[in-house]
Amino acid sequence: MGSSLLGWVVPGLWAGEKDKRLVERLYDETADIYDERYAESQRVKYVVVEDVLRGLTGSCLVLDVGGGTGLLSSFLSGARVVTVDRSRGMLSRARGVLKVRADADLLPFEDSRFDIVCAFTLLQNMPDPRQTLVELLRVTKRGGWLVFSLMRSLPVFGLVVGLVPRFGRVLNQINIGGETVFIVRKRRVLQNIFLGV
Ligand SMILES: C[S@@+](CC[C@H](N)C(=O)[O-])C[C@H]1O[C@@H](n2cnc3c(N)ncnc32)[C@H](O)[C@@H]1O
Repeated sequence: MGSSLLGWVVPGLWAGEKDKRLVERLYDETADIYDERYAESQRVKYVVVEDVLRGLTGSCLVLDVGGGTGLLSSFLSGARVVTVDRSRGMLSRARGVLKVRADADLLPFEDSRFDIVCAFTLLQNMPDPRQTLVELLRVTKRGGWLVFSLMRSLPVFGLVVGLVPRFGRVLNQINIGGETVFIVRKRRVLQNIFLGV
């Protein structure tokens, strides 16, 4: 089956494929300097959600989408964390971490698989952050937690903020630099979250 037919069958998944490849290449090419440059600023974001995450992680299964070099997995040492990323370069630097190469819009996991799904500084790389959010939600258990950060300067920031109450209860929303970190508990009964968006 040619990609054009696939593109017709799953238009949302292919629409941004070209952009995604560019982003992937960018991370592949800069993977060796990522930790040196960003480990500290990412850690600040993990620290603000540390209480929530550590309180939950005991026997929980955590998914870190766009997890890159596995910084969150190392930070939550002792927790069961699966790190997913599209960039081979980034994943190759995630040592001692359970890792899977996949696209954030097409996660190779069944529905409601994870107790906690994290996505730090991922959504701004995605062609349609709302679509990615729907995929993150799909693999989150009902009553489970979704922790993600998003740049406030993104045009879709307001839309995402408006979307969150439809699928979850916001426990906390913290501004760090140009990003906001959301800690959201997924509702047991969901509304149609694309309605009116
Ligand atoms: C700014 S880094 C953040 C890495 C990690 N979350 C952290 O806290 O250090 C963004 C990550 O998203 C990954 N990424 C970008 N587009 C992706 C996609 N379509 N699917 C999966 N991962 C993607 C990149 O490869 C990169 O590792």
